[in-house]
Amino acid sequence: MRVILTSDLHYDVPRSKGPTEEIARKIAAAGGDLLVLVGDSASIDLTVLEQLFGLFEGFRGPKLFTPGNHEMWVPKGGDSFRRYEVELASVCVKHGVHYLDAGPYYANGVAVVGSVGWYDYSFRSPALKVPLRFYEAKVAPGRAEADEHYRHLIDGYDDLPPGSTDIIVRWMDGVRANLGMSDVEFTGMLVDRLRQHLDDASKRAERIVVAIHHVPFAELVPRPIVLNFAFVSAFMGSESFGALIEKYPQVRDVYCGHAHRRKQVQRGALTATCIGSTYTEKVFDVLDVE
Ligand SMILES: [Fe+2]
Ligand SMILES: [Fe+2]
Repeated sequence: MRVILTSDLHYDVPRSKGPTEEIARKIAAAGGDLLVLVGDSASIDLTVLEQLFGLFEGFRGPKLFTPGNHEMWVPKGGDSFRRYEVELASVCVKHGVHYLDAGPYYANGVAVVGSVGWYDYSFRSPALKVPLRFYEAKVAPGRAEADEHYRHLIDGYDDLPPGSTDIIVRWMDGVRANLGMSDVEFTGMLVDRLRQHLDDASKRAERIVVAIHHVPFAELVPRPIVLNFAFVSAFMGSESFGALIEKYPQVRDVYCGHAHRRKQVQRGALTATCIGSTYTEKVFDVLDVE
């Protein structure tokens, strides 16, 4: 069985539009038995996700989808958890796409298990010594210092390491995603759900392929020197997903996206791949599963 996997198509982003249409044509021409979209296909506007699904009408096999953090973005006052549980599921049903976060996909003794994944700041850079409250607010100290809305993270504290206000980035999930729970709670909930899906899959399939948008292993997290990028490593994913996945010997292949940088690591019999599409260069993987 030939599985095609791609991620981070970001069809809502103008500079991604042409490259996404081009890779959709390439994937349809290459063919395969299954197509897996590993997150960040679109964003707030779900009609763009519907258009994205339409681009793959030429692909003959079943299509599987897991969201990325960008599909969790909602209009102001919206509810990302409802988006995750209800809205994304119904868009998938409408287009005949299998929503992996609701349950595994099974075919020919193979299971595909998927999750958006999330982050619990465990991948944050210890060298930065930035206090946890900045990660929880998803703004770096320099950004908080310059913005009235975040001054409460600065005023009255004396725990900022020297130079930390040079970091001026913020992570847009802090503005666009509204989970109604902490990132740590959401990550825990997703790990529990992934465990249920892997338990089910391990009883029904000899081979399991895992597709998770956020990064499940520390080795796949880019290690940048630029301070702003070092700060955002906190939002790349969580090793708790990787530790769980490694408990299932039927899993030999894990694919993630999100980091926008191609990387592959071997952990025993397990191959973990960050697919590595960027905003302007889209790539896909071909996995032949016996
Ligand atoms: Fe992305
Ligand atoms: Fe992402």
